[in-house]
Amino acid sequence: MGGMEERTQALRAIPLFASLDETDLAEIADLLIDRKFPKGSVIFEDGSSGDYMYVIRTGEVKITKMSEDGREKILEILGEGEFFGEMSLLDREPRSASVKTTRACTLLALSRQDFIALLRRNPDISLDVIRELTRRLRETDEQIRGLLFERVEGRTRRLLRRRASEAVEGRPDRRATPPITHQQLADLVGTSRETITRVIKELKDEGWLDQEGKRYLIPVSED
Ligand code: CMP
Repeated sequence: MGGMEERTQALRAIPLFASLDETDLAEIADLLIDRKFPKGSVIFEDGSSGDYMYVIRTGEVKITKMSEDGREKILEILGEGEFFGEMSLLDREPRSASVKTTRACTLLALSRQDFIALLRRNPDISLDVIRELTRRLRETDEQIRGLLFERVEGRTRRLLRRRASEAVEGRPDRRATPPITHQQLADLVGTSRETITRVIKELKDEGWLDQEGKRYLIPVSED
């Protein structure tokens, strides 16, 4: 980031810092460390010790867990303005998952000490963090339900529905997901790439699903 003014302006666009006044924003701008990562970088590994939390200024990351036999489950994909790595700072336990960049990223790192001090001084930020943790827990509960009770096709539909938030030009009846590969879809749904390829074909044949490059188009009206 450039000068001080420019830096605080950029921070204002991040939801977590939206409630800060000018003085607090300038103070936090001083504490945040800019770190750039190319696509495919490991930010940290599951089980390592954690000293920093990160806010995504630009780019995209995936939060993952590995199975014993080396298959990857994507817990979540996070983008601009979202944050991760707060859990280890709060409970001092090892990192609960690995984080890798899926696009080139500029991250803002905040140390444990500065993060805790920020939460103590700003109840609005603390509430935002709690709300986000609550959202993730709901999401995880939904995933558990899906994995226990739903077949792959249902899980795939649900996942595409959840990720499709973009309007499609000239197609008011559809909304689109961000670009996503079959492998990523498989790792999100918790199945093999081969199975996803088959399910995607079935959903297209039945007319529910459309594709534009790597973006998936699903009906706006529920099913
Ligand atoms: P931490 O445990 O420090 O390191 C891994 C991070 O991944 C964790 O903090 C959270 O920020 C994030 N994370 C872990 N589990 C999930 C989940 N189910 N959904 C979204 N983010 C998660």
